[in-house]
Amino acid sequence: MNRSPLTQRPAWKALAMHYQEVKNLHLRELFAQDPQRSARLTCEGAGLYLDYSKNRITDQTLHLLLNLANEADLEQHIRAMFRGDKINLTEDRAVLHTALRAPRDRSIEVDGHDVVPDIHAVLDRLSVFSDQVRNGAWKGFTGKSIRTVVNIGIGGSDLGPVMAYEALKAYATRELVFRFVSNVDGTDFAEATRDLNPEETLFIVSSKTFTTQETMTNAGTARAWCLEALKEPAAIARHFVAVSTNAAKVAEFGIDTDNRFGFWDWVGGRYSMDSAIGLATMIAIGPANFRRLLAGLYAMDEHFREAPLNQNLPVLMGLIGLWYTGFFDAQTVAVLPYDQYLKRFPAYLQQLVMESNGKSTTLDGAQVNYQTSAIYFGEPGSNGQHSFYQLIHQGTKLIPCDFIAFGKSLNPLGHHHDLLMSNVFAQAEALAFGKTAAEVKAEGIADGLVPHRTFEGNRPSNVILAEQLTPESLGSLIALYEHLVFTQGAIWNIDSFDQWGVELGKVLAQRILPELESATEPELKHDASTNALIRKYRGWRQEQRF
Ligand code: F6P
Repeated sequence: MNRSPLTQRPAWKALAMHYQEVKNLHLRELFAQDPQRSARLTCEGAGLYLDYSKNRITDQTLHLLLNLANEADLEQHIRAMFRGDKINLTEDRAVLHTALRAPRDRSIEVDGHDVVPDIHAVLDRLSVFSDQVRNGAWKGFTGKSIRTVVNIGIGGSDLGPVMAYEALKAYATRELVFRFVSNVDGTDFAEATRDLNPEETLFIVSSKTFTTQETMTNAGTARAWCLEALKEPAAIARHFVAVSTNAAKVAEFGIDTDNRFGFWDWVGGRYSMDSAIGLATMIAIGPANFRRLLAGLYAMDEHFREAPLNQNLPVLMGLIGLWYTGFFDAQTVAVLPYDQYLKRFPAYLQQLVMESNGKSTTLDGAQVNYQTSAIYFGEPGSNGQHSFYQLIHQGTKLIPCDFIAFGKSLNPLGHHHDLLMSNVFAQAEALAFGKTAAEVKAEGIADGLVPHRTFEGNRPSNVILAEQLTPESLGSLIALYEHLVFTQGAIWNIDSFDQWGVELGKVLAQRILPELESATEPELKHDASTNALIRKYRGWRQEQRF
């Protein structure tokens, strides 16, 4: 694979020169000069329609970006991932979340072992268990059926399940209540359980490693909460199940190993929402709908694998994103789903994108001399319009936007959906084309106000549409971003599948904890600021008397 430094490759240099030529081109001109632009710069795949015409690109930009992908051997990288090569170099692991949605008749080998039958065996067990909880056959210790499912997990073991649960609520049983506890702040557990009956509550302890401090602390608190009410240790087997790769730690915690649903080290935490980590999702929407979700993910996998790069949604979006970060120095991407059910989608993407590509060391151990991951943020529309859109329209920063919307509402109420959709289209139009000073003046606006009321425009966006929010279209959307991240990581030549950046803080917290809790005054050897903060907290802690 091509390992010459990215910025010294011909396509990068050509893009740098091209940027100087096109940086001042306005989307107004690009559209005016080319009536076919909108028809040409759209693409469809796996049930999604992408309009990328409102980006600051020309045909030459696209040509050069595709050259960049070719010079990085993107297609070879894609094949290596799907084949199960150990492309997560720093952890010496395969990256095979795509195998999680492969049909039963596929064969994918890791170290000479076909993993597809293992995946389907777990899916089958999950389906049986989910049905039992859904139909009331799974009884709590005192013989009552389960009414509330509480998922305890953090990061990928929380954000995926909670995002998918919220996104697919329209498909979920309303007979069961779902809660998600992630934060080590006791408030999260306390609020999630304050109105629950332990006899009717099922905890899913979701943790790939089963060692994560937050999750193990919350799981321990949940066990104590359950035992306080139900008294007998035997109750744990009826009220706790685990999702983990670590069978030994699950047993050590006291969860019956028959109640463990496994997955594998080649599934990264932030890529695990469709593994057994999706148990809460499956209980909510049922096994059949969960398989529809898998089908959507698989459809986008196939599109990513098969479609030519210039008609490949994740590749196009990845390259265009890289164009803004690499050459326009854009720092962020706003993800703006115009669907209330996708309210947790931006939070989910934050981990997916930033934990994957927030890296500054190349696979060869060198420091990068170019920007990597953009900061992702967002809110559902139209709420965001009344919050931070002001800055996107008239601020000093270039913020590429991804608008996501659906043609058919799951809750058609009056003309709400027409209003919603008119807002998506209007926002993308306003950002791209703005409003000139002449147009403002022509409206009779006082001279002094004209600069304030002018919209520069030329602010880029993608519009992603699907017919309706379904398990399939959600799956396609998730895989779209997974593969966008992959495309960018492959070109930036970074390991998108490790997360060493989360380690240092964890280690330091372990050192600080006994210093906070020690009965005698500890000898503090941190920097002066940290020492002072610890002393300040110890003072309050003594007053509170734990
Ligand atoms: O934040 C680091 C991280 O390892 C994430 O990558 C992961 O999703 C999360 O912690 C939770 O890990 P686990 O599932 O092992 O509890």
